This record gives sequence, structure tokens and C-alpha cells, in this order.
Amino acid sequence: MTGELRCPLCSFSATPMAVPALCPSCAVPLDYHRDFPREFAASSLSGRGIWRYAPLLPDVEPVTLGEGGTPLVPSLRLGPRLGVRLLFKAEGMNPTGSFKDRGAAVLVAALRSFGARAVADDSSGNAGAALAAYAARARIRARLFVPAHASGPKLAQIAAYGAELARVPGPRERARDAAREACAADADLLYASHNASPYFVAGLTTIAYELFEDLGGHPPDHIVVPVGGGGLFLGLVHGFGQLRKLGWCGQVPRIHIAQPQACAPIVRARGGGDPFEPEPRETVAEGARIPRPERGREVLAALRTVGGEAVAVSEEEIVTARATLARAEGLWVEPTASLAVAALPSLLARGAIGPRDEVVLPLTGHGLKAEKG
Ligand SMILES: Cc1ncc(COP(=O)(O)O)c(C=O)c1O
Ligand SMILES: [Zn+2]
Repeated sequence: MTGELRCPLCSFSATPMAVPALCPSCAVPLDYHRDFPREFAASSLSGRGIWRYAPLLPDVEPVTLGEGGTPLVPSLRLGPRLGVRLLFKAEGMNPTGSFKDRGAAVLVAALRSFGARAVADDSSGNAGAALAAYAARARIRARLFVPAHASGPKLAQIAAYGAELARVPGPRERARDAAREACAADADLLYASHNASPYFVAGLTTIAYELFEDLGGHPPDHIVVPVGGGGLFLGLVHGFGQLRKLGWCGQVPRIHIAQPQACAPIVRARGGGDPFEPEPRETVAEGARIPRPERGREVLAALRTVGGEAVAVSEEEIVTARATLARAEGLWVEPTASLAVAALPSLLARGAIGPRDEVVLPLTGHGLKAEKG
């Protein structure tokens, strides 16, 4: 693989490898960078889905199930009610029902290029389902460690793809520890942490490229995203950053973050300090229940560069937003996906989003993913 891995916080760099270590100085995960030809133009892109952007992704043989190319659906009721031009990127239409397919396709393709035969990861469910599907496609054995509280449909998906599933009781970090322990005990098992992998985040940049093209070659004014590990947020930031470097867009959108009040490490850390939620509580937004995100410091630094706000919403607001989205727009999403919808009124009230601004909400996971409701 060509390109380079770089620390987002200092000047450390390394050559690409299957499971890169953290930056030795900053102890944070690295990012993937690749130079593109100077004369690279949009007209040289071809095909549909994430591999349309192959020249901007790690140069690996694709593993694909038709991920990406999701519709951008204009809001008919919510947007007019709030006085903004609102659009939804329907990420639930990806092959396993969430945006994680974009990252998993590139991560599995990268791991295969390094000769991986067996991989392990920890996940709240969606990344596990995506990884299990793409590993099956690439004939790589997968072991997934999920918190015992993960939703039934996601667990069923992981098992259906033939991955070995371990439900780990206790907080989310226990699943991470269990995955690491399993890899330490088995030299053939690679720890493919999607939250720390540069290749997973590289796959998520494709959502920025698609949005830019969907909108006829300009970025939206704002994007609001639910944040757990921060991969989606960083994928958008890096993707629009890349478009700016290419000279395709002059400015990047303001990208705002939504978290549940029950677990809001980024919102807390905006005032200073490391992102950490000391007492995470139960939340219906299970994808955002990551009390100490590994990429948290990178997320905070990036949030400042894109002028984004970070908003925490209550359980009631999440549940109400989910129901409204389904009834008023015909879009049924899982609770974590409705975090961004729930955050909109407060972003408008504090003036972060202005009247008639163009706002995109990636609807990150399908309603069928949730246990009930
Ligand atoms: C449906 C859904 N939305 C949003 C997120 C948060 O994404 P990230 O971990 O990239 O911040 C997750 C994470 O699991 C998710 O499953
Ligand atoms: Zn560093």
C-alpha cells in the first residue's frame, strides 16, 4: 500500500501496516494520507459507491457489497418547520444497514492486502455487523466482542455472517479489553479496531465526497453528526479537507456533534481536558455510548478547525426525534441516528445554524437495527 500514516496531533509518521501502533508521543491513533496527482479532476471519477473515490482511498483491491451511493433525501416537513434547508443522507441503505459499511469495506480490503486471515474487533453492534459481512466476503475469519447490552438484531446479523460472537458483560471498554486479550493469546488474530484504524476512517471520507457531488459540487453549510468513537465526524472532516486541498471546494462545512446526555465525553471536554465521561448512564443511543473515545483528542482538535458546536440531548429528545422523523418524513432510523435530529433545535436556538442555512444530517443506521419501537 502506498501513502503514509500520520499522527493527527504531531509530526510523527509511519509506513502503512495492518495494525499500526498509536503515535509514540501522543498515544493517539494515526490517520491515513495519500498524495493524489496534481491534475486530478472530478471528471476522472467513475462508477458508483465508495470505490468511485478509489484514487483518494488506500490503493487496495476492493472488497465490495455495493456500499455507499446512498440517497440524499430532502426534508419535506421538519426543515420547513425549523426554517432551514434540511437534507438527509440515508445511510441505513448501506448493505448491512449502517454507514459503518464504508469503513469496513476499506478496512477489510486493507487487512486482506496485508495477508490477514483472522481479525478481531469490539463494537456496539453496527461496526461488528459490517466487519462480519465484509470479512465473510473476503474469506477472513472474524471474532467480534460486543457489550452484552448490544441490540438483538445487530447480534443476529454478526452471527448470521458466520463471525464468532462474544457478548461481554460490563461497560463498553470491557469488550475492547476482551478483544485485545484474545489477540494477545493468538498470533494469527489481528486486532482490527475500527475505532483506531486509519483505513476505517479513510473509508468514511467517502460520505464527504458523495455529499459534495450530490449537492452539485458544493459543500453544505452545516452537517450534524452523532458521535461515539468519532470516526464518522473525522471521516467528514478529512474528506472535506481533502476536497479543499484538491481545490474542488473553497470552504469546508461547519460540522456539529450530537451526543446523548447519558454519555457526552466530547461535549464535556469542550471546556478543556481530555474527553471522558466518568459516569456513563444507560442510553437508547447505544452507538454513542463510548465514555473514553480513542480518537477523542483528534475529534476536539478537528471540531475547532471546522467551527463546530457539540450538543448533548436527553433520552426523551432522542426518542421524540426518532418518532417525528418516521411519521413526518417516512424515514425510520435507529435511536443513535436520531441524535442529530434531536440536536437541531438547540443548534438553531444558540445561533450556530442560521435561518435558511443548508443542513445535512447523515441518518446513520436503519430503524430495523433497534430492539424495539
Ligand atoms: C447508528 C450509529 N450512528 C452513529 C454512531 C457513531 O459513530 P462514530 O463511532 O463513528 O462516532 C454509531 C456508532 O456505533 C452508530 O452505530
Ligand atoms: Zn503524535
